[in-house]
Amino acid sequence: MSEAPFPAADPPPGVAIEARDVHKVYRLDGVEVSALRGVTLRVDEGEYVAITGPSGSGKSTLMHLFGCLDRPSSGTLLVGGRSISEMGDAQLARLRNNEIGFVFQSFQLLPRTSAVDNVALPLVYRGVGRSERRRRATAALEAVNLSHRLRHRPTQMSGGEQQRVAIAVALANSPRVLLADEPTGELDSATAASVFGALQTANAELGATVLVVTHDPAVSSMVRRVIAIRDGRTSTETLRRDAADGSGALEHAVEYAVLDRAGRLQLPREMTETLGMRDRVRLEAEPDHIGVWPDQPQRAGATDSDGGAA
Ligand SMILES: Nc1ncnc2c1ncn2[C@@H]1O[C@H](COP(=O)(O)OP(=O)(O)OP(=O)(O)O)[C@@H](O)[C@H]1O
Ligand SMILES: [Mg+2]
Repeated sequence: MSEAPFPAADPPPGVAIEARDVHKVYRLDGVEVSALRGVTLRVDEGEYVAITGPSGSGKSTLMHLFGCLDRPSSGTLLVGGRSISEMGDAQLARLRNNEIGFVFQSFQLLPRTSAVDNVALPLVYRGVGRSERRRRATAALEAVNLSHRLRHRPTQMSGGEQQRVAIAVALANSPRVLLADEPTGELDSATAASVFGALQTANAELGATVLVVTHDPAVSSMVRRVIAIRDGRTSTETLRRDAADGSGALEHAVEYAVLDRAGRLQLPREMTETLGMRDRVRLEAEPDHIGVWPDQPQRAGATDSDGGAA
């Protein structure tokens, strides 16, 4: 692209989203469902982050909160530095409309309307003039590699192309934060790669902070940070660094556990089960690390009658 397609945003680099011990309880017919049980995490402006985790672990709930579609039951959630619990409905709606773009698995496109009009139409409600709508829509479709499909209708496009139109709809609004909840769920892997590529463009070239919920293992090679959610909590994070050869490729995936503000550390179940760690573990402080050992060395036929702290 020869020139910046969107009005220049002026985000001072900072924290895009910060969750501190966020809980979400749904009440349904008198039954309480704890969807989030103390999520603590921070996403900086300009990051491209993937969120993974088993079905029901709370990923969509978290995206709803990040997108200001709902408020936490307890804990603090800051979006663009502001606590969403302290905002009124109108303020929340403004934040959502002005700063956040959503891409969902169902495309939500108008089937009989061209790609460029699908992208341009929502801008009508934002008071954007006709020629500016057209310019922004064309630029957004260009950003997702669809300049050759401007006049195609969704029914005349492939699944991956439709999903990229949906990304363009979100981008036309120059969101600071782009949230995508399983945008490739129904796509084959090659098509999914083109959708992840479009999200990468939104991040690298347009400067949006991008969070994508996905089950697709391929995404881990495209993002620097993968956050795993389990049972309504962040369990581990995997960070990647640039390859030393300067090729721009990512390598050195390192897995991290999350240390919350109360000093709590959640160890991945695969690791603790393998070593038979339960109830309590033995700690040893070393000059440069902390060692964690099973309470008892595992012995065949051992009982755990003395396990557990009094
Ligand atoms: N509106 C709601 N009312 C009641 N319970 C809900 C509601 N939305 C979600 N839940 C429950 O909260 C938990 C987390 O749901 P959520 O949709 O966040 O999971 P998810 O990680 O996105 O799962 P999936 O990978 O299947 O999309 C689930 O047990 C779900 O049944
Ligand atoms: Mg979900």
